[in-house]
Amino acid sequence: MKNKKVILTGDRPSGQLHLGHFVGSLKNRVKLQKEYDTYIMIADAQALTDNFENPAKVKDNVLELALDYLAVGIDPTCAKIFIQSQIPELFELATYFLNLVSINRIGHNPTVKEECKSKGFEASVPAGFYLYPLFQVADIVGFNADLVPVGLDQAPMLELARDVVKKFNATYKTEILNMPEPLFGTAGRLSGVDGLAKMSKSLGNAIYLSDDSDVLKKKVRMMYTDPGHIKVEDPGKIEGNIVFEYLDVFCEDKAFVMGLKEHYQRGGLGDMKLKGHLLEVLESVISPIREKREQWKNETGEVQKIVSNGTNLARERARGLLSSVKKEMLIDYEEIIKIST
Ligand code: TRP
Repeated sequence: MKNKKVILTGDRPSGQLHLGHFVGSLKNRVKLQKEYDTYIMIADAQALTDNFENPAKVKDNVLELALDYLAVGIDPTCAKIFIQSQIPELFELATYFLNLVSINRIGHNPTVKEECKSKGFEASVPAGFYLYPLFQVADIVGFNADLVPVGLDQAPMLELARDVVKKFNATYKTEILNMPEPLFGTAGRLSGVDGLAKMSKSLGNAIYLSDDSDVLKKKVRMMYTDPGHIKVEDPGKIEGNIVFEYLDVFCEDKAFVMGLKEHYQRGGLGDMKLKGHLLEVLESVISPIREKREQWKNETGEVQKIVSNGTNLARERARGLLSSVKKEMLIDYEEIIKIST
């Protein structure tokens, strides 16, 4: 049987997943998990790069993230869910890869620059945080991934990974490392409910996959629409109107959305009524996820088993890749030195 191509992707366990994650990458992972040999990383070591003072928060979110994965439909019989910190091979690999890139190249990363600003790291950024994109390269290459389904904000990390692979293969005259391809969601960046920026936990404008009906209702009610649309009969604007952005992304019935748009622009469709439609659509997306999450939550032992199993299998694969890389870099001493492990 031909070997399946490999997917490697993951998220930081620093909070619950939201609708932005869902359309940005989770849907793609669920769709492709059977076709690809899929590894999904709970990136706890990366989460510590900006939460090192708060390790309990990271640890508490590890199994929560696994629950989110299972709730959206990641199937543990084919996808391997694993914990980054438990695969030391990845950190060893990162050490060797550090030789293949310049500090300037690592620093050239719009996502990290934005994060530094929002975290107040501009004056003095911790080295671990500054270098995390290179560690992420090791995550990707450590599995010799072919495809990496992620949100658009991860594009710079993928570019760096491709640079490192190219440099490695050229330097050591080999083709052992696959060129990883990013796979972004079709929706691009999902706006937050405030309409001002992308959906993000730190901006407090996110709808979480685990939000209950009441919370969801409140968030939809406060969603940004058209500030000029005051009376029901006023004509309203579609551009920049978050309710319509969400309807475009989440409502399967495109003709229905088109009808709503026409009505809204003409006047006579009130915001409350419009939001009622969106609420129904979002409820139909989130309620099955919420229910599945509740079921898995009652089976903690099973979830732990899934993650242990995934971590063991992931480690096996990373071990193999690291060993091939070390051979190319002439760091293989098995024949002359015996170490007991
Ligand atoms: N940087 C990703 C995030 O912030 C998490 C991550 C860590 C990741 N390692 C990865 C994603 C490797 C894809 C591939 O969510």
